[in-house]
Amino acid sequence: MNDSEWKSFCQSVLDFLHGEFMREMEERLRAFGTKSSMGMFDSAVLLGLVKKFAPRVCVETGGNLGMSSSFILQGMIEAGVQDGRLLSVEVDPNCAVGSMIPDRLKPGYQSMIGDVKRFMKQKAFPDRIDLFLHDSSHRYKYQYLEFRYFWEKLKHDKIGVTDKARTTHSEWGRLGTIGFMVKK
Ligand SMILES: C[S@@+](CC[C@H](N)C(=O)[O-])C[C@H]1O[C@@H](n2cnc3c(N)ncnc32)[C@H](O)[C@@H]1O
Repeated sequence: MNDSEWKSFCQSVLDFLHGEFMREMEERLRAFGTKSSMGMFDSAVLLGLVKKFAPRVCVETGGNLGMSSSFILQGMIEAGVQDGRLLSVEVDPNCAVGSMIPDRLKPGYQSMIGDVKRFMKQKAFPDRIDLFLHDSSHRYKYQYLEFRYFWEKLKHDKIGVTDKARTTHSEWGRLGTIGFMVKK
């Protein structure tokens, strides 16, 4: 992003923080969320990234209750993406997967219950994706494994995002704790 794109991106994130969807999700976070759910600022950045890059096929690891899923799904709608899909991987079978997602956003949502490594071995993911969000285990080994795998699948000019970027690689561009890389 050049300076002016970066400035308008940051402005859009600030605007989202005061928007209607943010208020709705803040209430859902209070009512159903846990400490594992993505925070409000990171979620606003995620929404901004999805709106800017308009991905149609998205994969996230660490779906949990669906805070980040909600922002990806909402972002695709706000970006005018038709038939957007989000594949959301969660390893914990006892987790109320996707329960935070407002019903109107659920049509494009598909949960995959199991270890992301197992799905990789089974080649269960699409060959080409437009956005990858890593939010499963933040151990370096997992982040490295997932990014190596999904980077190959990312189309050019599309985006890889991670939460807890400060625990990852120092070259990540970051805002708060969320970080992202655009594939060129
Ligand atoms: C920080 S939480 C994700 C929060 C979620 N993105 C949100 O905003 O609501 C991390 C989740 O990753 C899941 N997880 C950890 N290791 C995993 C793996 N190997 N495969 C899939 N999910 C995993 C955990 O069970 C946990 O629910």
